[in-house]
Amino acid sequence: MTSDDLQALASQALEEIAGACDHAGLEALRLRYLARHGGLITGAAGELTTAVGADRAELGRAFNAAKTAVGDALTKRQRELDAELRAREVESERMDVSHPIRPLARGHQHPVQRTVREIQDIFMRLGYASVTGPEIEDDLHNFQLLNMPPEHPARDSHDTFYLAGGWHDWLYRTHTSPMQMRTMLAGAPPFRIIVPGKVARRDNPDPTHNPVFHQVEGLLVDQGVTVADLKGTLEHVIQALFGRDRGVRLRASFFPYTEPSIEADVACGICLGTGCRSCMGKGWIEILGSGMVHPTVLANAAIDPERYSGFAFGMGPDRIAALRYGISDVRDLYENDLRLLECF
Ligand code: DAH
Repeated sequence: MTSDDLQALASQALEEIAGACDHAGLEALRLRYLARHGGLITGAAGELTTAVGADRAELGRAFNAAKTAVGDALTKRQRELDAELRAREVESERMDVSHPIRPLARGHQHPVQRTVREIQDIFMRLGYASVTGPEIEDDLHNFQLLNMPPEHPARDSHDTFYLAGGWHDWLYRTHTSPMQMRTMLAGAPPFRIIVPGKVARRDNPDPTHNPVFHQVEGLLVDQGVTVADLKGTLEHVIQALFGRDRGVRLRASFFPYTEPSIEADVACGICLGTGCRSCMGKGWIEILGSGMVHPTVLANAAIDPERYSGFAFGMGPDRIAALRYGISDVRDLYENDLRLLECF
């Protein structure tokens, strides 16, 4: 092989390298010309050992020049191919940040949740703390400590979902009142709390009943609390929720855990008192039960009824929401039909 042969070989290699269109093709060319064993150019190294004198020097220079030129060309083409690949990747991942998106549907609070929040706000301003309690209760807290022993007739009005077995087992709380007991048993008076939460009863569904519903319980215990405090609180809260013009009626009632007991009705928001389907023709809708905490209940929580007195109440935010928003059937609040919910 002569130095001219080497030069010719090198320029052929440079041409092919410039035309290589991918990494695999380029690698094949590297092996063809520069493989340690059998490369067309590297193979010429063997001939150097046999050449002599000036030929040998010239051949050596040509050999080095060819090897360097081809090596450099391979590196250069490698970089070009790398850059092309990266550019293609960038192009395929391109994102138009100014492209308009589908508008996001904006949610809002469910009417019941909004009512609960408003009730919380009203009581927060009166200095009540809002606490929560377990939905699965035991008979002791749901009934017995609230002055409803196992055979008590008042239990009939709480058609209870028992989780297993009889009265001594777990149940789904029928009201939020057990949190009165849990609160009093866990601390010392004074107490001023409300308890929003879910309750359940085996009621037949109708426009004012759903088997699962919400309550907000309230309890205030201190020295010298009277029925006047209860009445003032109820009137304030009902007016805050319904406005000063809405008819309100307080009635004597009975609950085993209060004495005396009072129920509050507001004029039906649909018929404003004349009687319609949603108030079952009565014109009034009961929204809460209340009363002075029964001395036995205080004693059950180790609170001396001679020193302390208090009042308690339980209200139904579902009915309150239905009344305030003119929904004639509380069951609609649980269907989650967005066409209805989006109206509020
Ligand atoms: N627990 C009663 C119910 O579910 C509501 C109630 C009445 C709660 C009187 C009270 C109360 O705290 O004092 O119907």
